Amino acid sequence: MVKRNAMLLLQILLIVMLLTTTATASEHGRKHTMKKGILLVTFGTSHPQAQEAFKNIDKQVRDAYPNIPVRWAYTSTIIRKKLAQKGIHLDSPEVALAKMMDEGFTHIAAQSLHTISGEEFHDLVRNARAFADMAGGFDSVLVGSPLLGTDEDLRKVTEAIIKHIPKERKKQDAVVLMGHGSPHPSNAFYAAMMYRFQQKDPNIFVGTVEGFPEIDHIKAMLLKKKIKKAYLIPFMSVAGDHARNDMAGDEEDSWKSILTKAGIKCVPIFKGTADYDEIVAVWIDHLGSVLSRFD
Ligand code: CO
Repeated sequence: MVKRNAMLLLQILLIVMLLTTTATASEHGRKHTMKKGILLVTFGTSHPQAQEAFKNIDKQVRDAYPNIPVRWAYTSTIIRKKLAQKGIHLDSPEVALAKMMDEGFTHIAAQSLHTISGEEFHDLVRNARAFADMAGGFDSVLVGSPLLGTDEDLRKVTEAIIKHIPKERKKQDAVVLMGHGSPHPSNAFYAAMMYRFQQKDPNIFVGTVEGFPEIDHIKAMLLKKKIKKAYLIPFMSVAGDHARNDMAGDEEDSWKSILTKAGIKCVPIFKGTADYDEIVAVWIDHLGSVLSRFD
């Protein structure tokens, strides 16, 4: 009986050894030490002042994950070209991933620094999947959710923005946030954010440059409430081109011009959401969820 058991054990051991050998052989000598990398993906900006906000994110990510290399990618071709003319070279997410693949990274946490899960976010997810499927490439490429994902994110962002409203603003003054806006269904997040803000402070409004609600909707709401003064604040990661031109520019169709013409005094603020540590913490939290899936 003892002998039969020993034989059986030997047979099992042999099978296990055979299976292990096959598994190793199929790797074709590919080294398999885990090498994690972080890729931060943003639309990008060509404004040096706005880039300070990205430096803030970069520092906080490195502080949170000191042992994981951090790379950056800009999704905007126009901005990458503009910067290249000044000798600043930034990669697209695809080029950045190809380089990281070449460097032998096995696990990539690509963190979207977008505000909503719009077109650019979904493009990133799609291409990250394509990279994860490539032969001889990564074991895993996962994309972290943009700023506004869960209800908890919306609550945190609402509180952070309210906390950073200039102290001199009076209750009867409006705060008008400028979101980017998108034809994507996720554009609904902006109206959802306005609802959340107004639960806390009825004079906070959220409009968009390229989606709904438009500035005309916001203007009508302000006039109905007989608002006389409004703080204009970007609801984008950086106070770049849209903040400087569409929000606060001197052109006739800027938000500042439209509201001023309607008798509302405007005070533009040039800070993006990435300038606020509490908001950067939300993105880093999303990055953390992705990284924890590699453990
Ligand atoms: Co734009």
